[in-house]
Amino acid sequence: MELIHPLAEAYASKYSTAADTVLKQIEATTSASHAQPHMISGHLQGQFLEIISKLLQPRRILEIGTMVGYSSICLAKGLAPDGVLHTIELREEDAAIARRHFEQAGLAQQIQLHVGNAIEIIPQLEESWDLVFLDADKTGYAAYYQLILPRLRTGGLLLADNVLFHGEVLKEEVKGKNPKAVQAFNELVAADERVEKIMLTLRDGLFLIRKK
Ligand SMILES: C[S@@+](CC[C@H](N)C(=O)[O-])C[C@H]1O[C@@H](n2cnc3c(N)ncnc32)[C@H](O)[C@@H]1O
Repeated sequence: MELIHPLAEAYASKYSTAADTVLKQIEATTSASHAQPHMISGHLQGQFLEIISKLLQPRRILEIGTMVGYSSICLAKGLAPDGVLHTIELREEDAAIARRHFEQAGLAQQIQLHVGNAIEIIPQLEESWDLVFLDADKTGYAAYYQLILPRLRTGGLLLADNVLFHGEVLKEEVKGKNPKAVQAFNELVAADERVEKIMLTLRDGLFLIRKK
């Protein structure tokens, strides 16, 4: 299901700050050579992540699901001068590409890339998170959320991507492993009184969750 009218998307893109040269190049090469280019955040969501990060000026960012590093770069641009972004990617092939992109963006010193399964790596990171971007396997969202929330600082933000899941969760009967997992995650967040939240209809749906 096309969630956002392509004309509205193009209009929003035209009137938003343009992506920089490195991000434009990452989007172009990913589109030409990656098996799943649609997974990248892209211009509008990337710009949104960058502005949120610049507003927060976080010292510690956690990203789950690096892919080729597009969203990592957007988020890292808002880091405090001594800040670090930890990002986790399951696939070595994507991680290797992301590593090159971090060098190209001049952000390699501020980004720590972990290769492996996020469910095993998250508990090993003894940090207090200011900003978290959840963008990996949808069946893991609820477990990641429960692991991360105690380590999200008060006033910290957690953003979860694809919460409209290509419109699948809008159907009367939600079918399939991923849409059902996203639906369960959305219910979990909606009922959680530890947080305040707004579900944004940006791209494929972005949940903006703030710890009280
Ligand atoms: C939607 S893509 C991430 C896109 C990226 N955040 C961006 O916007 O540019 C999801 C990524 O999560 C990774 N992933 C899936 N399951 C994972 C897991 N259990 N642990 C870590 N990464 C995982 C996938 O390999 C994929 O590269």
